Amino acid sequence: MDNSIAKGVFDILPCDPSEEGKWREIHLWHYLETIIKELTQVWGYREIRTPLFEKSELFERSIGEGTDIVSKEMYTFFDKANRSLTLRPEGTASVMRALIEKKLLIDQPIQKLYYIGPMFRYERQQAGRYRQHHQFGAEAIGINSPYQDAELIALFYTFLHRLGLKDLTLHLNSLGTSQNRKVFSSALKAYLAPHLQLLSPESQERYETNPLRILDSKDPKDKQLLEKAPLLLDFLDEDEKQRLDDLIGLLKQMAIPFSINPKLVRGLDYYTGMVFEVTAKELGAQNSLGGGGRYDTLLKELGGPPLPAIGFGAGLERIIQTCLKQKTFLPPPSSPLLYLIPLGDVALNRCFLLLLSLRKQGLAVEMEMGGRKLGKAMKRADNLNARYVAVVGEEELKTERVHLKEMATGIARECPINSLESVLKNV
Ligand code: HAM
Repeated sequence: MDNSIAKGVFDILPCDPSEEGKWREIHLWHYLETIIKELTQVWGYREIRTPLFEKSELFERSIGEGTDIVSKEMYTFFDKANRSLTLRPEGTASVMRALIEKKLLIDQPIQKLYYIGPMFRYERQQAGRYRQHHQFGAEAIGINSPYQDAELIALFYTFLHRLGLKDLTLHLNSLGTSQNRKVFSSALKAYLAPHLQLLSPESQERYETNPLRILDSKDPKDKQLLEKAPLLLDFLDEDEKQRLDDLIGLLKQMAIPFSINPKLVRGLDYYTGMVFEVTAKELGAQNSLGGGGRYDTLLKELGGPPLPAIGFGAGLERIIQTCLKQKTFLPPPSSPLLYLIPLGDVALNRCFLLLLSLRKQGLAVEMEMGGRKLGKAMKRADNLNARYVAVVGEEELKTERVHLKEMATGIARECPINSLESVLKNV
């Protein structure tokens, strides 16, 4: 029997002893989640939680049949009633489905929502790429304005900034209108036609199914061929160009550095107009911390009102890994303030009641309950990183006083058991 974990997924643990597994420690995830909750509250984004699986059709229609996600990476299964269901590979489609289904956009056509949760993609396993990853995503529905674009990008940027991340690149591009993309696709195909045999097998396939995605190829030979390829930016109509310029003006006002990347196309079909991605140097091949863009036609395509929208999704694994690589401030795991060590049965009972009353006051107190010897109990206090220890034996019970010993310094101070609460509240 093989009870080991499935390929491409991971546990998030209270503590991971390996150096390379530090990013899987739960306190780091809590730290990010707390910042996300604080920020989204201030920025006016409300939380939405959608199911982990949906009808397969939803993703096929929204992400697009020609994309890698839909054609190769979906975890699709049939339930007992033979319905085709898929573990969500991303969050946007589900959020749109929920808004349409619950008719939330009728009374409130402007909605700003966020989510945190796991997404599933059957991808080849490599550093920074998992079969279950976690996203912080935000979606702003109802406003088609460069100010909305700027606000959404600024939310993402502020999150990364708040974590202390540096040396990131914000890549920006515009996919223009569907007409712009159509004309560009033909031009790109015409340019590549004489070199078709030289393209990687993946790009040859995309040539037929989704030519724009060839621009995203990581294959060195493809990249070389693409150097002189036509640029999507040159195919934008005047309105789209102006729109991008307006956003650039706002990014400059907000002092958010960016770089125009005419080859940025993103891997989902629902995008229209502006797209963006933030990358970090430290991450190697899978260097995207998050990305998003406008998707002004998706709601209508899914049977909802014709409202514009913009959003992003950010990969929490990669963000934590980058924080660790850049050595940004990350809080230590939580640890007890006090570890009580009773010696003997009478002390055990006394310490237990003391533990409960101190905890009632909000103080993080732990104790030795197994009746183990002093040495072992001290070791556990040390493992838990307790700030203070107090040994309670016959003498302490008689005098009603304990020695509160600070583990880091070894300095002990004597105090009455009854005043432990006030002493601990003031350390
Ligand atoms: P995405 O670019 O496919 O966009 O994913 C967003 C982010 O999730 C990526 O930049 C990356 O950090 C992380 N990510 C994706 N796949 C993996 C993986 N296999 N392992 C680890 N991390 C991964 C979306 O999903 C869109 N829904 C974003 C969006 C929201 N656009 C508009 N609204």
